[in-house]
Amino acid sequence: MSLTISSPKWESFYAERTKWIKSSIIRELLKFTQQPDVISFGGGLPAPELFPIEAIKKASSELLEKEGQMMLQYGPTEGYPLLNKEIVRYMDKMGVKCTPEEVLPTTGSQQALDLVGKIFINEGDVIFVSKPTYLGALQAFNSYGPEYIGSLMDDDGLIPEDVEQVLKKRHPKFMYVISTFHNPAGVTMPEDRRKKLIELAVKYDTIIIEDDPYSRLRFEGNDIPPLAAYSRERVIYLGTFSKVLAPGFRLGWIVAPKEVITKLVHAKQGTDLHTSTYVQYLAARLCEQNIIDPHLEKVRVVYRRRRDLMVESMEKYFPGEGFHWTRPQGGLFLWVTMPERINSVELLEKAVENKVAFVPGNAFYADPEEGKNTMRLNFSNMKEELIVEGIKRLGELLRREM
Ligand SMILES: Cc1ncc(COP(=O)(O)O)c(C=O)c1O
Repeated sequence: MSLTISSPKWESFYAERTKWIKSSIIRELLKFTQQPDVISFGGGLPAPELFPIEAIKKASSELLEKEGQMMLQYGPTEGYPLLNKEIVRYMDKMGVKCTPEEVLPTTGSQQALDLVGKIFINEGDVIFVSKPTYLGALQAFNSYGPEYIGSLMDDDGLIPEDVEQVLKKRHPKFMYVISTFHNPAGVTMPEDRRKKLIELAVKYDTIIIEDDPYSRLRFEGNDIPPLAAYSRERVIYLGTFSKVLAPGFRLGWIVAPKEVITKLVHAKQGTDLHTSTYVQYLAARLCEQNIIDPHLEKVRVVYRRRRDLMVESMEKYFPGEGFHWTRPQGGLFLWVTMPERINSVELLEKAVENKVAFVPGNAFYADPEEGKNTMRLNFSNMKEELIVEGIKRLGELLRREM
């Protein structure tokens, strides 16, 4: 017997909120950059040849041997207690005091962003973000229908005076801040600006969501404590193992007051019950064995060399007049501002023809009409000789455009 079954009209089934979740043209364009002969500064990936594979292999097989049954079992949403303790120790080294009950392991900090959106954002709520800001945060928050306000940054990140002008006009539910080695801008807020930002949070009765994947990747200058080191009261801190161990772990964490953690735990239960037990055990063991610090020593040397090469090549091949780029002291990215008449989305199409790629800057703005003359370049993931060749190709293209 054959049935004639018509397909449903999927459009009429989708939830209202899906109208806020849009695929970006940029993501589509970046697919072309995956071709093997394209030198891509587009991604945000760590250098895979540096992953501490031997240490992971050893820890993993020892754990499976001794604790395999627990490690492969369901676990509490609140986290594997030994991991929470290790995160407390990790945060302490950065100057942030917290207890294991104030830590929630998450499936990457990307999930932390989604959970923050879930518990704080009502449709139409106002949120403050820097211009530009992390694209993945916008994607996470967008599902909850917020309205964005924001202010521009300079080479030292957010400018407290400008932030205050914005806060005077509109009250945000929270401020989303990447204080150190900003993605995409590569900039870092100095201590005085950090203190002023917290004062503003108090004065205008709002909170700060501090997203900090990169601060341990400093290869130049002195460490600056995260905002959470100055105020645990007003700051919810998001951390991740993605850039200090490996992003494939999909392991991050939130540090927040206990009552906020309880809300987040409830939100997380409906999402994934808990973060992978296997990965939590593994990360806890690697922290216990103090694998991260010596690993980062190696990472910093390589990233510094790559940053140096990229900046030197830009000085050599890019047209100087009307161009500005940041010179990050850590992290993975630098940010280029070009003369107004250059449109980086159009530029990317030509760049891909020349087998080189980057991310057009407007992808990092809540309003994609902004930042059209900017681009983000990643320096961590490309081998040295390809960095020089890629920047040369980009420079030649830019000179033709000028
Ligand atoms: C600022 C920022 N926040 C969050 C994330 C997501 O990191 P995770 O791999 O922990 O989900 C990234 C990743 O690139 C990032 O740059």
